Amino acid sequence: MECYIISAESFIIPLLSTLLAAFWIMVPAYVPNPVAALCGGGTPIDFDRNYSDGRRLLGDGKTYRGLAFGVLAGIAAGALQIWLAGTYGWTFLPQQTAASIVILAFGALLGDMAKSFVKRRLGKDRGQSWLIADQYDLVAGAFILMLVFDPAWLFATITLPILITILILTPILHRAVNILGFLCGVKKEPW
Ligand code: CTP
Ligand code: MG
Repeated sequence: MECYIISAESFIIPLLSTLLAAFWIMVPAYVPNPVAALCGGGTPIDFDRNYSDGRRLLGDGKTYRGLAFGVLAGIAAGALQIWLAGTYGWTFLPQQTAASIVILAFGALLGDMAKSFVKRRLGKDRGQSWLIADQYDLVAGAFILMLVFDPAWLFATITLPILITILILTPILHRAVNILGFLCGVKKEPW
């Protein structure tokens, strides 16, 4: 019995700490999307222009206001993390840096834009669901940008267990937040 309790603990605690670490790393990348949905609107990033295929470059769902407020909110959330970790000495959590929070926040919405570009090329209308891409665009965008600008942080922070956890956690949070946004009337579709 005692042996069972010890093994359960030794299993659950690392699992929870990996989950917490994965979430902590992704906060600056998770915040921009919902904030863009909340604050977006106005001039579209593609200025209403079409691509050579006659379809919109990105579409009305990608606006300067959404991009600016989204990125700023992601950076603000990251700055709060840096402050909290420094003030309370949370050394058990992965370390965010000034560079990492900017790259994660900007990369998340860059990935979102890249996805919309491909989505339009595939003839999918704004807001139409595209499974996998809709859920992982922010992860791909954030990590690719990190690979370019701060690979040392990426490889030191994103271990294999953390990566797997991020890949499981992201679509779950994405779905939950989008359903919430849909119910609040912020999002037109629950995805
Ligand atoms: N949004 C924005 N600017 C961005 C990203 C998002 O204004 N750079 C806002 C838009 O109002 C958008 C909403 O957030 O409609 C939800 O974002 P998302 O689901 O990514 O856009 P969709 O409307 O689904 O468009 P797409 O099909 O191109 O993904
Ligand atoms: Mg969408």
